[in-house]
Amino acid sequence: MFILLPMAGRIPQNFIDELLARTDIVDLIDGFVPLKKMGKDFKACCPFHDEKTPSFTVSQNKQFYHCFGCGANGTAISFLMEYSHLEFLEAIEEMANKAGLPIPEEANQPRTDSNLSELYELLEIVVRFYCTQLKEHKQAGRAIEYLKNRGISGEIAKQFELGYAPAGWDNLIEELGKSDAAQKRLSLTGMIIKRDNGGYYDRFRDRIMFPIRDPRGRVIGFGGRVLDDETPKYLNSPETPIYHKGRELYGLYQARRTNKDLQRLYVVEGYMDVIALAQYGITNAVASLGTAATSDHLERLFRAAAQVVFCFDGDNAGRTAAWRALETTLPLIRDGRQAFFMFMPQGEDPDTYVRSNGRESFEDNSQYLALSDYLIAKLKETTDLSTTQGQAKLVDDALPFISLMPQGALRKLLIRDVAKLSDGDEAYIESLLSSQKPVERRTIRSNKPAQKSGNENLVGKIISMLLYQPTLVHTVENQDALKSIPVAGVDFLLELLELIRNNPKISCAGILENWRDTKYEPRLKQIAASNSDMLAVSSRLEEEFLGALTKLQAKKTQQELKQLTNVKRVSNLSAEDKEAIRKLTKISDKK
Ligand code: CTP
Ligand code: MN
Repeated sequence: MFILLPMAGRIPQNFIDELLARTDIVDLIDGFVPLKKMGKDFKACCPFHDEKTPSFTVSQNKQFYHCFGCGANGTAISFLMEYSHLEFLEAIEEMANKAGLPIPEEANQPRTDSNLSELYELLEIVVRFYCTQLKEHKQAGRAIEYLKNRGISGEIAKQFELGYAPAGWDNLIEELGKSDAAQKRLSLTGMIIKRDNGGYYDRFRDRIMFPIRDPRGRVIGFGGRVLDDETPKYLNSPETPIYHKGRELYGLYQARRTNKDLQRLYVVEGYMDVIALAQYGITNAVASLGTAATSDHLERLFRAAAQVVFCFDGDNAGRTAAWRALETTLPLIRDGRQAFFMFMPQGEDPDTYVRSNGRESFEDNSQYLALSDYLIAKLKETTDLSTTQGQAKLVDDALPFISLMPQGALRKLLIRDVAKLSDGDEAYIESLLSSQKPVERRTIRSNKPAQKSGNENLVGKIISMLLYQPTLVHTVENQDALKSIPVAGVDFLLELLELIRNNPKISCAGILENWRDTKYEPRLKQIAASNSDMLAVSSRLEEEFLGALTKLQAKKTQQELKQLTNVKRVSNLSAEDKEAIRKLTKISDKK
């Protein structure tokens, strides 16, 4: 039932449950951020944004933290990921160490037939092969000459493990593909390509090689650049079991290794930009490798550093890319996170810029555009603010962007700016926003009921109670009766009941972890963050829960009744039909 991304590796869900059961989130967080008991919960000033009065709350019962100020929330695993800037697997490793639990074997096993760790090891050997070729191959002189011409020092080439794939079709195969099995493995990594008529050939020929490492330091693929004006200028590893375009960030491993406490990350376009910046002492740049930054990228970036500076070319393509990056960033830009935009002068990229202007100029904040300023500037570009129509248009144009943002200081600021510019007031814009289509990440704090049908609310309420007290599942006597109730969310509810039944000791956090990285996660977190009011009814919780379930079952009955009477309206009802209707009406009256 659980879905795990390949990135997450294969940690069995029951190990995660076990880990969560052995770790108390209160102890764990208290080790980083001293907590104070207040009422039933624990509180502190939020470690994820600036504040003077504590709105960061940790619930021992739910094993869940939530900040009412910035909306950060999650499980113990999420906390480690956010606070210590760890990837999912790293957080699991750290918790397992603390709890003294060995990570089960299965976790290191591949999802495909061939062993993934074998592929990583193989690519490690390929890195060394290309590095050696850069030093020793008889034609390496050209490659070295090329790197020198581009101003790359030997030291930085070594640090980024630059190599040379010699010209010719079978250098790698000769070196590492002696057996059939070896060739198969090489081709799985994308380093050699199968010929139609049998045999293989090297993918990378006569190119400067850039190994790409994942944040844990494993080589997952390569980029290769020609030494002249041939095309394609860059060739990259194809999608393989270990390389996924659109997820990886070149240089992130090096940036994290060089900087213990990363505050800021620059996002640039290419390999050469990352390397040139590093050579000039700017060791915190990463490249999205020719693709637009995805949400996946951005989650990763913000986990590693609170401040992200996007660097774009000053040309049209750069501006278009910047606008896309802005749209991807908005939903993730909660308090404590900052995004900036930096545009290179015409014809320059970070590589050429830093070489001619130096580090200080590149790092000069005053030329960065804050995300909100960039957004406002873009909106103003197409609007004549001297007219009332123009002012109204500005508000109209701004609404969809603001509604992408989570609640928080930044959103408020933006609303204030738009209000000022349009000569309107903030409350009016807020009211327009609340009548906009609700966005997934809309925060939980407002007491306004979500714009959902009553039926979905009913399911939401039941799920909310289950997250508060999973043991309620034992009061459900006839789970099958819930099947095929024509109400959205019931299928999910059934899955949830099943999960809890199979894991009687599961906590709210365990439930959330079960749906990590699925489309259900945001909504579940939202519910977990807002169900504290259950406490008010906790003495009657069981009663409330069963009451809601009965109501839900009644929906099915009502539906059946409607169908029966619809179909039979014209004809005479049989005695059996009458009996059925009598029964159904009785049940639905009872609710
Ligand atoms: N890219 C690619 N395939 C290409 C061209 C570009 O994958 N045919 C990716 C590479 O990751 C490259 C990045 O897009 O580093 C940026 O491309 P570009 O700006 O054209 O190259 P530069 O990094 O400036 O390369 P160089 O300075 O070496 O010319
Ligand atoms: Mn360049």
